[in-house]
Amino acid sequence: MAVPVRTYQPELSQAINRGLEEPRVAQSADESSYFTHNNPPPYLGSVEKSVQDFLNIHGRCNLVLITSGGTTVPLENNTVRFIDNFSAGTRGAISAEQFLDRGYKVIFLYRELSFMPFLRHFTTDPNHENFLDYVDNRHLGIKKEYTEKLRKILEQYDYHKQHHNILTVPFTTVNQYLYTLKSICETLAGHYEEDTSKVAIYLAAAVSDFYIPESKLPDHKIQSGGGGRGGGEGEQESQTSGHIISTANSGLTISLSPVPKFLARIVDSWCGGAMVISFKLETDDNLLYSKCTGSLSKYGQSLVIGNLLQTRKREVMFVDKDEDGEYRHVWHRLEDHNRGGTKTVGTIEEAFIPLVAELHRRWARK
Ligand code: PMT
Repeated sequence: MAVPVRTYQPELSQAINRGLEEPRVAQSADESSYFTHNNPPPYLGSVEKSVQDFLNIHGRCNLVLITSGGTTVPLENNTVRFIDNFSAGTRGAISAEQFLDRGYKVIFLYRELSFMPFLRHFTTDPNHENFLDYVDNRHLGIKKEYTEKLRKILEQYDYHKQHHNILTVPFTTVNQYLYTLKSICETLAGHYEEDTSKVAIYLAAAVSDFYIPESKLPDHKIQSGGGGRGGGEGEQESQTSGHIISTANSGLTISLSPVPKFLARIVDSWCGGAMVISFKLETDDNLLYSKCTGSLSKYGQSLVIGNLLQTRKREVMFVDKDEDGEYRHVWHRLEDHNRGGTKTVGTIEEAFIPLVAELHRRWARK
């Protein structure tokens, strides 16, 4: 039997440190500095080819690039330890299904091993139904009570697979994420030329704000005792590698550099003309609105979707500017949707993605 606890839920009172400043808006100099000092992932060329092939199949139809899941920050080049960002990829995976439902082609840039569209229904969570519960162990067929659910999911999955409607591209580290995001955005800009308004960039991933530049990373696993040669009692061995100091007596000190906030570069340069939608995660509802307007004014994206860690699966706040350039906001709640709507839905994404698609339709008509 499994213990029914959620170990991935952060301690809310300490989830976000408000003493820290938001990272600086990246300028083109920050961009060239970041991409000069950190190497591209070796597979980037093959990702570029897959993206180009995908675009060639579909021409210039409505397309959404979705980022999903959390990025990691490795502490060693041969990575044993890393810092992670909170996100299971649920938001991104459900949103992808919803955009596909509305005829969009989807590029799904996701944290490897996080939730995926369609597959997300079959969790490995022993506290919920998982795929093994669906199978009748005597005949190895699907149990009767699950056939309808499976049939519906399979129908959609097969349809989108046959029509090549979704391209999935993985990342794990923040460096892989940034390189791949930039490359996909630029490939989209090249492909759509003057039609980039048909592209929506939907940034649901939780991206690290701090990292260790590659050149400062130790190559091998940090030794907990300092130098790693088995220091005797009283010895103070130390292992230092740029941003990491490990000593037997004082423990581990890590110094992290800010990750440039590339949101404005996406809007102004990487894929100008696309509708850019970003998410803002907070834990204090008094701060959410001002954080969203602050983000809009700094980065110039089209829409910020604010959500609180505690209620993110039930409600989100849309913040954008009206025709006169004034900020406006609307809450969208699952409960309200199901009370007033024509169709009852199970997730908040099913309630709000039709509204994002409608805003995108208006954006593309402008
Ligand atoms: O996956 P789930 O478990 O369902 O959770 C979904 C979610 C809560 C992670 C998602 O809804 C969400 O809120 N994602 C954004 C988290 C966040 O607050 O990000 P941020 O404030 O660090 O960044 C805001 C935007 O800036 C992001 O869209 C990101 O793409 C971008 N960014 C972030 C850091 C950075 N260095 N550069 C960036 O461009």
